Amino acid sequence: MPLVPPYIEALRPYEAGRSAEAVRQKYGLTRVAKLASNENPLGTSPQALEAIAGSFKSLNLYPDGGLGLREVLAEKFDLKVDNVIAGSGSEGIMSNIIRAFLCDEDEVLTTEAAFIGFQVLARSRGVMYRTVPYREWHYDLPALAEAINPQTKIIYLANPNNPTGTIFTRQQFDEFYRHVPERVLIILDEAYFEYAKDNPRYPDSMQYRYDNVITLRTFSKVYGLAGARIGYGFAHQELIRNLLKVKLPFEPSTPAQAAGIAALADREFLHRSLELNARGLKYLAEGLREAGFSLVPPEANFVMMVLPSEQEASRIFESLLAQGIIVRPLRAFGLPHCLRVSTGTDDDNRICLEAFRRTLGNRPYPTPVSSRP
Ligand SMILES: Cc1ncc(COP(=O)(O)O)c(C=O)c1O
Repeated sequence: MPLVPPYIEALRPYEAGRSAEAVRQKYGLTRVAKLASNENPLGTSPQALEAIAGSFKSLNLYPDGGLGLREVLAEKFDLKVDNVIAGSGSEGIMSNIIRAFLCDEDEVLTTEAAFIGFQVLARSRGVMYRTVPYREWHYDLPALAEAINPQTKIIYLANPNNPTGTIFTRQQFDEFYRHVPERVLIILDEAYFEYAKDNPRYPDSMQYRYDNVITLRTFSKVYGLAGARIGYGFAHQELIRNLLKVKLPFEPSTPAQAAGIAALADREFLHRSLELNARGLKYLAEGLREAGFSLVPPEANFVMMVLPSEQEASRIFESLLAQGIIVRPLRAFGLPHCLRVSTGTDDDNRICLEAFRRTLGNRPYPTPVSSRP
């Protein structure tokens, strides 16, 4: 008799992408660019690194459960500390939301091929996980509103979305929200918020402090702290109060929290990171389109490419690996004919585009399939 419930048996352990070092050794390369995990190619804010080092002297003591960071964020966003939570990455907080709010008969609703981290967390709770297809690679918010039923408890929306890189607009969200009952919790995952915030059509969820909306943000992307595991969330104090009941008391760790606080203050690093990304996104999107590839309009720090078939996606992925470029195949997300490419340094981006062109040889590229999944 299996020791685990069937919904756990059905999951697969998360497979981390191949490391740059493993690829370098396998193909005997001198230089490898890892453009597979939407990380910051500039590294980490020097102020955050200094703060991490400074935290070492108190590693013998238990952390304060994120209070220091919550206070800084409350001040920065003009909220009460009771409206803020800090955790081990935004996925850490997502995991707490799933533990705190779902009963066995509840349902989760989101888009098809949603961010894999959320898919795994929600499915591991054993509740009904329902999805609605993308519309032209964007969340189909009207269809999601239509799909709400009496069991729907959580709706998960990532904006910008991973893996498509698309956003939904202020107007679309306003219209959607009118159809969501108060008993339904909306998770607005804004892991890529900083990249989209200057787009006037982007609905910064801090303008939507509704009682049933929780915003999640992270230091893993533009702040270059993916390895530290630090993220935060904003919500009504009752939601936060309940999340604090299930949160591991000592997350985030002391170095992670110190890094987050320092990174928030490092405007210069943020600015440089955003500039590099904007340049890289434009360069990759234009270059790949000119080469004949079909892309989804990018709004974060990566582009999603739609290939004519799963075989072609695998062929290109393997060919790029052999040339020292690691991109992300999207089979695990549910999109086996797609690849995701994160922006890198200017050099990474140039080498990446050259490698993509080389995968085409002299062949004219097959007419791209429609942009629908
Ligand atoms: C949409 C989305 N949410 C959350 C995360 C995870 O963030 P964290 O590292 O803070 O757990 C990612 C990382 O890829 C993401 O793409």
